[in-house]
Order: sequence, then C-alpha cells, then structure tokens
Amino acid sequence: MTVLVTGGAGYIGGHMTLGLIDAGEQVLVLDNLSTGFAWAVQPPAELVVGDFGDAALVGRLIRERGVDAIAHFAAKIVVPDSLSDPLGYYDNNTAKALSLIRSAVEGGVKHFIFSSTAAVYGETSAEPVAEDTPLNPISPYGRSKLMVEWMLQDASRAYDLRYVALRYFNVAGADPKGRLGQSTPRATHLIKRGVQTALGRFPSMDIFGEDYPTRDGTCLRDYIQITDLIDAHLAALAYLRAGRESVTCNCGYGHGATVNEVIDVVKRVSGVDFKVNHAPRRPGDPAAIIAKAEKVRETLGWRPKRDDLDEIVRQALDWERRLHNRLGEPPDAV
Ligand code: UFG
Repeated sequence: MTVLVTGGAGYIGGHMTLGLIDAGEQVLVLDNLSTGFAWAVQPPAELVVGDFGDAALVGRLIRERGVDAIAHFAAKIVVPDSLSDPLGYYDNNTAKALSLIRSAVEGGVKHFIFSSTAAVYGETSAEPVAEDTPLNPISPYGRSKLMVEWMLQDASRAYDLRYVALRYFNVAGADPKGRLGQSTPRATHLIKRGVQTALGRFPSMDIFGEDYPTRDGTCLRDYIQITDLIDAHLAALAYLRAGRESVTCNCGYGHGATVNEVIDVVKRVSGVDFKVNHAPRRPGDPAAIIAKAEKVRETLGWRPKRDDLDEIVRQALDWERRLHNRLGEPPDAV
C-alpha cells in the first residue's frame, strides 16, 4: 500500500511525507517543484516531478505503485494573489483537483485526504467557527478549495471513494526534529515574515490593518503547529482505512493570537526588537478566524500535543537559520 502525496515537496505536504515515513508507510510524492524543493523529500520517500492534473501520469502511478490513498496538498495558497489571478487559482486548485479525483475514482483509490482551509468560512466573528457554520468564502482561494469539498462530497456519494477534508487554520512552526520547515520562496505568512525580519532578512515588517473589531485592532488567527496538523492527517488515514464515512473537520486549537501578539512573541523569543510599519488592511483578510475544534477530536481521536506559540515561533526561527545555511542567500529564497 502506497500513499500518493501531491505537493509533498512543499511545507505542509513535506511534513506529511515525514510523518508517513515515521509511521512506516510507503510514500510517493508528486510535486512540480513550483514552490517545493526536491531536497525536502527525504528517502525512503520517492519524488516524481510532475503535475497532479496530468491524468495520464497520475493514472500510471496509481496502477504501477499500488496507491491506496491520496493525500492532496498541491495548491496555490496566497489569498491576495488569488484576488488578482482568480482563474489561475480555479485552474490549479479546482480544475486540476477534479482531474485528480477522477483519476482516483478510475484507478480504484478508495481513500482521499484533502487539504482544505478555514478560508471557506469567510468573514467570521471572534467566536470559534464550527464545521456546519454557513460557508461564505470571500476570496477566490477559499472558493477554489470549497468547490473541491463539494466535488468530493458528490463523488463519495456516487462512487466507492471516501474522503476526509481537513480545514486548516493558520499552520505554523516546523518539524520538532529540525528536518523541515516553511521554506517556500517569498512566503507571506505572518510568523515566517516575523522570524525573517528578526534574523535581518528584511529591514522591517508590516502590520496589515489595526482597525479590525478584535481585542487590539489587529487580525486574530488560530495558529496550529505543523506536526500536530500532520497527526490529524495520520489519524484521518487510519480512519479511512478502517472503512469509516467521509467527514470534514476543522484543524485548529480553538483559540488564537492577534498580529500584535504574534509579533511580540517573535521579538521576545528571538531577542530582537525589529522595526514594524503600520500598513493598510490587506485585501481579503477576515478580522478573526478561530476553529471550533471538537469534531476532529471526537471523529478522528486527534489530540493536540504542541499548542504553544512560543515553541512554534522557536521552531520557525530555528528552521529559518538552517534554511539560510542550506540555501545561502539566493534572491528567490527570501
Ligand atoms: N500579516 C501581517 N503582516 C505580514 C503578514 C501577515 O500583518 O507581514 C497579517 C495578515 O494580514 C493576517 C495575519 O497576519 O491578518 C495572518 O496572515 P497570514 O498570511 O500568516 O495567514 P492568513 O490568515 O492570511 O492565511 C492563512 C493561510 C491561507 C489560509 C488561511 C486560512 O496562508 O492559506 O490562513 O485562515 F487560507
């Protein structure tokens, strides 16, 4: 039995690859290396460089490698980019996902784990959002992912395919063993930008908006540590292999931190008091997104083990230093 991991050379997919290897699974990574790195796929996982929307390639891999489960991570993920390039997002995240789901059905793959997002909820209040909250994504990114959830729902009713869709809140931190972390070129994530600024890669960083209806006016997010998130995926795989029904679960801790609070932690943990600019709101940002996080515990038996923002920031800092040593300072590495 082999697990096919699309996007397995990227940040979240790469940590899934590690988690699967640690669990003794056979892993085949399919990644076009547009944002991922070949070195992030560590043996015994095998990397095939290609596109998950290439039905002939995916069909052949499923047939020849005995794939019983697909974990689908490959996606474009930058919310502001999705506003300027919506069709690119629908093409990559939705149309190619349709092709992948069809390849799964035609190839007899019965288990599908989908990397969904809290962005499917859209504008929410500071109250935790449950999975049955009405969905109203405000960005093409969120919509492009929600359509995949719908395709999976319909496909699992019609065919012999079961799925777990995991709606990620804000994924952060790095492998506690230091093997991998967020390496994506030009990443826009708050914690990544914060640690890069603390390490002097940027002279300063921006706070996008300070007039939101939150406790200090900056956006509130539920930051989940990457290895905890991967544990939910491993639980999802076991759940599906046990023949259970398709399900959609939030992945977050149920509480959050504001942009100001995160920056304070980065400054304290790094010991660097870097410069912060007061910038306008970033288009497409909801004020607050916090997970209601009971369902993933009840359904998949998941238990968070690393709910600690200081530790998340420390891991991100450690990884950023290692990444710098590995990549040197190529212009696209920051
Ligand atoms: N922010 C800043 N300055 C920065 C970077 C970010 O102020 O330099 C702010 C953002 O405006 C936002 C918050 O920090 O308010 C978090 O921003 P991130 O870019 O880290 O994360 P997002 O909440 O925008 O998005 C993340 C993922 C998406 C996913 C979403 C779901 O990147 O893929 O969570 O909630 F859809």
